[in-house]
Amino acid sequence: MAGREMKPGIYYVGVQDWDREIFDALIPTPDGTSYNAYVVVGSEKTALVDSVEPQKREAYFANLDSLKIEKVDYIISNHAEQDHSGTIPFLLDRYPGSKVVTNLKCRNFLMEHLLIPEELFIVKGDGDTLSLGDKTMEFMIAPWVHWPETMFSYVREDKVLFSCDFLGSHIATSDLFVRDEPKVYEAAKRYYAEIMMPFRSQVRRHLERIRSLNVDMIGPSHGPIWEKPDFILDAYGEWVKDEAENLVLIPYVTMHGSTEKMVEHLVDALIRRGISVAPFNLTYTDLGKIAINLVDAATIIVAAPMVLAGPHPTAVHAAALVNCLRPKAKFAGIIGSFGWGGKLVETFAGLLGNLQAEFLEPILVKGYPKPEDLEKLEKLADDILERHMASDLVRTDHE
Ligand code: FEO
Repeated sequence: MAGREMKPGIYYVGVQDWDREIFDALIPTPDGTSYNAYVVVGSEKTALVDSVEPQKREAYFANLDSLKIEKVDYIISNHAEQDHSGTIPFLLDRYPGSKVVTNLKCRNFLMEHLLIPEELFIVKGDGDTLSLGDKTMEFMIAPWVHWPETMFSYVREDKVLFSCDFLGSHIATSDLFVRDEPKVYEAAKRYYAEIMMPFRSQVRRHLERIRSLNVDMIGPSHGPIWEKPDFILDAYGEWVKDEAENLVLIPYVTMHGSTEKMVEHLVDALIRRGISVAPFNLTYTDLGKIAINLVDAATIIVAAPMVLAGPHPTAVHAAALVNCLRPKAKFAGIIGSFGWGGKLVETFAGLLGNLQAEFLEPILVKGYPKPEDLEKLEKLADDILERHMASDLVRTDHE
């Protein structure tokens, strides 16, 4: 691979990680990912924008060499997470005299995590600029997308925004620019759900600011570059809305079929009432699929059996993930089965404390569900329908 031109004087020098299967030891990346890095060559100075996961640094250096980048004045760091910053210490060795340009919080993180000496930094604040000669870099502090120190860098003359993780997607591709829009949309939504969703109010603020710039191109830190920025800005605009969809997400676990029978009955009852349902058997499901559905679902029903006097640990893991992603769901419920006892409802209710949702009446079944248990599930479906209708989520053609 070689560096690739995005606009005159602005180049992509990132690296594809085709085989990466998981991120942060938590999030599956079925399409791999990329670590995007850029070079901005001005008439007087040259700046690198972010770097790559350190294990991929040789490929990154080869991309820089292909562009005959021999002198680097500035290494701009938009985000301290090491998939973008981890190669900076190697860059400082490779380009003696270069300085790391970032904000104060990011500088402190880089000093702590990468042991970069303080004198090698230039600290910039919101709206500050850095002249490269005929190109001007402007910095925008953009906290919580998705760390407290994140920022954007903007090439004013070319209207190119480097948005760090924001607006990115975990996808490895030979396309420099977004070509397969449906595929990248799905990956970007998954990425938003897994990384950005807990910070919706900050996301809204950053979206407004980016829109006010009327940018021409957005280079995120993962996935292909947006040549048509409105596509991803509009998508984010939909995802951050407070309004939920007429959708019930049901993450569930089953051991001997009792909980599965309850889920099957509830799924059928909801469909009969014109409500969309997304059931996921947690034993087999990629957690990213649950995250994607959390972006839109109005209701979440967690379903699990009791095992060893507590909820099944696989469902506990999923509930903890749901809780930290802080979805917009308005309603939540807990259903499950047990053999002799335990604290299923209390444990899940404690795990889901971040949800700003109304909790519906839980349903617990001893052994296999009986007709009276199925009636309770019908009642639960009625309760969900009533609430979705009251929230204007159910269209009349479904009634
Ligand atoms: Fe891609 Fe937050 O690092």
